[in-house]
Amino acid sequence: MTNKNKTLGEFIIENQTEFRYSTGELSKLINAIRLAAKVVNHEVNKAGLVDILGTAGDTNIQGENQQKLDVLANEKFIQTLKNREIVCGIASEEEDDFISINSQDENHQNKYVVLIDPLDGSSNIDVNVSVGTIFSIYRRITPVGTPVTLEDFLQPGKKQVAAGYIIYGTSTMLVYTTGHGVNGFTLNPAIGTFYLSHPNMQFPETGKIYSVNEGNYIHFPQGVKDYIKYCQKEEGDRPYTSRYIGSLVSDFHRNMIKGGIYMYPKSSVAQKGKLRLLYECNPMAFLAEQANGKASDGFQRIMEIQPTELHERVPFFCGSKKMVEKAEEFMANS
Ligand code: AHG
Ligand code: MN
Ligand code: MN
Repeated sequence: MTNKNKTLGEFIIENQTEFRYSTGELSKLINAIRLAAKVVNHEVNKAGLVDILGTAGDTNIQGENQQKLDVLANEKFIQTLKNREIVCGIASEEEDDFISINSQDENHQNKYVVLIDPLDGSSNIDVNVSVGTIFSIYRRITPVGTPVTLEDFLQPGKKQVAAGYIIYGTSTMLVYTTGHGVNGFTLNPAIGTFYLSHPNMQFPETGKIYSVNEGNYIHFPQGVKDYIKYCQKEEGDRPYTSRYIGSLVSDFHRNMIKGGIYMYPKSSVAQKGKLRLLYECNPMAFLAEQANGKASDGFQRIMEIQPTELHERVPFFCGSKKMVEKAEEFMANS
């Protein structure tokens, strides 16, 4: 593969001018995320060791509580982003409310808000299965120099200026977009450098994988049940293969490479599904569309939805364009 030797650092500098505001700040922000990714990667990798080597109880030698990895990842990302003087606000799955940065300093020029799911797929941590981090970046709407407000965070996904994820898998990758396609970088852990390993990633037009928690089948809307039956039917290139990791990042990553659809529909027990619009669905939707895929709530484009709450949930159908369109067809007909 070409470009194997290009590092993420070089790529960020080379592509800085592609970004429409082009002040270099977004590049600094991606750099901060790159750094936080390495720190969290280190923590994730030794997660098993902590149990083996950890002292009795849940406190470490300094008497601090040993923290769950999603809390730790949250702290590492927030710390790293705060220190850069680019971000004016952060919202996170792990924080009830958004965090305002530099709100006392009227001279600050920080323009960006970041929304994160610091550790996605946290039920997989204890069993050594791939987890991830998801991030979404917007320019603030309110004037610089003033404290951020909720409306800076409640922007529809189509306003995102960048989004991406880190997957802590058999290798660690950072995959992101600034609206000019999707590029994937693999970490060489020996020297702590990300290399461009997957330039211009694209969802295949269609695929053979469907990813859904079928344990919830009985609670799904009729349209989803019908689509699942369609996936399982022996006809043409079907039945499809079922693959569900339970980490959105990992399921998405596999489907983008191989072709497939990920679904987390609403159900009779969860009227809005499970996944969060702002820091799970919107960033994944931006990546999907930039990679020639599609993301929908079953009826409309995810990135058109006007959010009303920081932690709101939304049904999610995402992946290869033709497959998502087919699922939407079943939803419309039910
Ligand atoms: P998180 O660990 O950030 O709470 O997210 C978990 C999400 C998503 O990653 C995954 O696809 C889904 O929840 C799994 O949910 P089920 O266990 O209900 O299938
Ligand atoms: Mn998540
Ligand atoms: Mn999470």
